[in-house]
Amino acid sequence: MTLTHPTDLHAVPSPETSDLAERRGADLAWGRHYAAVRPDHFRVEYAINPFMHLDDQPDPALALEQWERMVAVLRGLGARVDVLDQREDSPDMVYAMNLGLAFVDPSGRERMVMSHMRYPERRHETRSAEPFFAAAGRETSFVGAGSTGPHLEAGDAFAFGDALVVGYGPRTEEAALAQLARTLDVRVRGLRITHPGMYHLDLAFCPLDERTALVCPAALDGPSADALLDLVPDPVVLTEAEALSTFAANSVVVGRTVVMPACPARLRQELEGRGFEVVVVDVTEFHKGGGSIRCLTNPLDVTVGRDLPRVPGGEVVLPGAVEGVA
Ligand code: ARG
Repeated sequence: MTLTHPTDLHAVPSPETSDLAERRGADLAWGRHYAAVRPDHFRVEYAINPFMHLDDQPDPALALEQWERMVAVLRGLGARVDVLDQREDSPDMVYAMNLGLAFVDPSGRERMVMSHMRYPERRHETRSAEPFFAAAGRETSFVGAGSTGPHLEAGDAFAFGDALVVGYGPRTEEAALAQLARTLDVRVRGLRITHPGMYHLDLAFCPLDERTALVCPAALDGPSADALLDLVPDPVVLTEAEALSTFAANSVVVGRTVVMPACPARLRQELEGRGFEVVVVDVTEFHKGGGSIRCLTNPLDVTVGRDLPRVPGGEVVLPGAVEGVA
C-alpha cells in the first residue's frame, strides 16, 4: 500500500484554501507512538457491552490480517508501534487502549496509570501489561491500591484543550477523576456517559488537532454534551447512528491523516474540508468485541506541559461545578 504523506498534499495552500489554513488547528504533537496487542487469542467469550454476542465469533485469521494491516498503515505514516503479546486468558486484551493511561511528565519521565477494569473478565490483562510497560522503563502506578481503588479504563481519557477529558459512568468511576488529576498534576474535565453503546469516551470523541475533534454528543447527558461542545472550537459532530454503526469516532490521527474504520461520505467531506486526509482500514472483526482502531491502539506520547497544561495538585471540573482537589 502506498501512502502519500499528508504534508505533501497540503504544503502549498491554494488561495481558496487560505481561509481554511487560518481556521485549521495546529496538528497534535502526540499520536506518534502506540502500544498494540497482537490478536493471537481474540474471541468473544462473554458479553460486557451491547456489541458482543457469543454466537458471533471473529475469524482469527482475518482478525490478525486486519490488525497487521492497521499496524502497517500506522507505521507507514511514521508512527512507532510497540507490540505486546496477548494473554491466552484475556480475549479482550487486544483493545490495548484500555491497558492504562500513559503520559510523559514535565521532567520527561515516562509514566502510566494502569487501568482497573470494571469487569473482572478483563482484570488479568494488567498482570502482563504492567510488567511490559515497567520493563520498557515506564513508572507504573494505580488509581488507589490495586483492586480496591475506583475503576479506571483508559479508553475514557484524552488530552484535549486545557485538560484531560475523562468520560465516566459505564466503566470509569467518578472517584477516579480526582486521583487522575492528582497523579498527573492536570485539570480533569469529567463528562458523564449515559449511552450504553458508547461505554467508553473513545467511541464518541476523537481529538484530531488542537481545534478539531469528532464528537458524538448523544453519548453524554445534556450538561456534559454541552460542556464537550464548548471545549472543542471546531467540532465535527457525529449522529448516534454514525457513531454506533461505523465506529467512526474510534479513529486515530497521525499528523493530518485520520486512520478510520469507516468514513461515511459526509464525514469525509467535513474532514477533507479541514485539511485532513482519510485512510480507511477495515477492522470489522474487532467490532464484534465492541472496539475499533482507537481501542486497538494506546498512545504513549501524551506529554503534560505540552499537550495539556500542568496544574499542580490537580483540579476536577464537572459540568456545572469546579472542585479543587489539591
Ligand atoms: N470488549 C471490550 C470491552 O467491553 C471492548 C473494549 C473497547 N475498547 C475501547 N477503548 N473502547 O471492554
